[in-house]
Amino acid sequence: MQLPTISIRPPAYEPLFDEQGKGRNACRGSRVFYALLLLSLGCTIGFAMATWGPEGLAVSETCLARFDTSPQESTVLTVTVSAAPVATSRPEVEVWDRPSSWPMDALELLNGPPTAAFKDNLKKGVNYITTFPGSGWTNDVILYMNLLYLALITDRVPVIPFFTPTHVGLGLAPTLLFGEVFDIPRLQRALGLPILEWHQVKDIEKETVDSLGCWSVWKAVQTFNREPHATSFPSRFKLDVSYTTPPRWVAMAPEDDDDKHASFWSLASLAFPETRSQIRLEIPTISPLLNQTLPPDEQMLCLDYLYYVGVKNRHEWESDWSPAWRFVGQHMHWTPKIVELADSYVREALLVGPNKPTPPYISVHVRHGDFAELCKGVAIKYCFAPMSAIARRVEEVQNELFETHGIMVDKVIVTSDEEDQAWWKDVTEREWARPNHSRTVELHGLWYPTLIDSAIHSGAIGFVGTDQSTVSIIARKRVTTWNGGVTRTVKWGKENADDHE
Ligand SMILES: *[C@@H]1O[C@H](CO)[C@@H](O)[C@H](O)[C@H]1NC(C)=O
Ligand SMILES: *[C@@H]1O[C@H](CO)[C@@H](O)[C@H](O)[C@H]1NC(C)=O
Repeated sequence: MQLPTISIRPPAYEPLFDEQGKGRNACRGSRVFYALLLLSLGCTIGFAMATWGPEGLAVSETCLARFDTSPQESTVLTVTVSAAPVATSRPEVEVWDRPSSWPMDALELLNGPPTAAFKDNLKKGVNYITTFPGSGWTNDVILYMNLLYLALITDRVPVIPFFTPTHVGLGLAPTLLFGEVFDIPRLQRALGLPILEWHQVKDIEKETVDSLGCWSVWKAVQTFNREPHATSFPSRFKLDVSYTTPPRWVAMAPEDDDDKHASFWSLASLAFPETRSQIRLEIPTISPLLNQTLPPDEQMLCLDYLYYVGVKNRHEWESDWSPAWRFVGQHMHWTPKIVELADSYVREALLVGPNKPTPPYISVHVRHGDFAELCKGVAIKYCFAPMSAIARRVEEVQNELFETHGIMVDKVIVTSDEEDQAWWKDVTEREWARPNHSRTVELHGLWYPTLIDSAIHSGAIGFVGTDQSTVSIIARKRVTTWNGGVTRTVKWGKENADDHE
């Protein structure tokens, strides 16, 4: 990755204040010029003292602004500025109100076309939220689902990064836009929330590198995490990030350092001025390019990593009640292009004639490959489930489909990273089909074998997956939610692991 020559907009911005020096959250809302002036001065001084004073980086200022907004009396009643929270009265901070209905043209939520420095494109009065990818494709899909759920509960506009290749093409594949995979217009309508992608905000063809203060959730949930969660996104996007560790209470189980999960609503509280003003900020890390230390940005709320997040349990997105799944994940449908491509692969694999509809089928996902590392001393032939175990689950799905849907489904399509030809011969002998990816990369690019297989899984009326595989878990949930289908999961890890009812 070649970084651009740095041309920076001096001076470094003051994160709490916009160009007019007017407080963005803590001190907003007056129509009276001199009051604003007074207030912004007071706040600036208050902020500067609280932030860079001898106490170190403690943002403890409260800018109290009381305005009578009744039409008759539009004069200032009281302006109180203090450097410490006032214990006796609640601070009057103005929480940004989401419009009763969002403009669904997401571009209305920006100043215009992508700008060299992203800050120039953020619209005054609109708050945003973002996070960074980098944990494998399916996990990044979950991470974006969690980002969108946080956007919903904080009333912020999500700004989604592209997918970065971690495994795909040995990490050398090009990046992939969220909107190339998921149907954003449909998702926006289902969520009632506009969705932006980073490339709409910032123009990375330009040389400008700009700084951003982010929270490192990763360093807060496990105290032995010395670095923010690894991601190549900021350097790819010419963002220079300074990270602040949030308080330990963002963890779902603060007493358990082995638990990687953060709590949705604890993270959400960071998006609001009351919590923010009460937090004693840790010293931010120095950004790698411009050597900046910045407190977390308030307009572009940024969290380094959102894969392990829940409201109640670890790995809860797998549960049927998971709010992130119910309010967001189930609405993340493929783009029409991907649906059509997957359908053409299914038709080819099942030898469907040109004028016939695609028949209902059962998809099977068998993950081997790097799962061998989890076998821990158990010989592979015992560790991975035998074909007979997979066949038994396929048969169960067929029986249940007959009982519940009254259909006989004999078409089976298998996807797997297994390379052993003998194993595939066994698949063929059972008259199960396999998508032919011999030209997929050449025709569609490195990401598409994965994308097409995932869409094939989710288009099925029955699904048999591999225990512990997130690819299988998400496929199972889609087949259940989208198609009312029937699913089974094959266990593995020791001999006869799947021999259960
Ligand atoms: C950042 O700090 C490093 C090491 O102190 C220095 O070499 C580099 O020139 C600095 N960069 C900028 C943009 O100030
Ligand atoms: C897969 O497709 C390629 C090229 O289209 C073809 O040559 C090959 O025979 C196909 N393989 C199978 C097993 O059908």
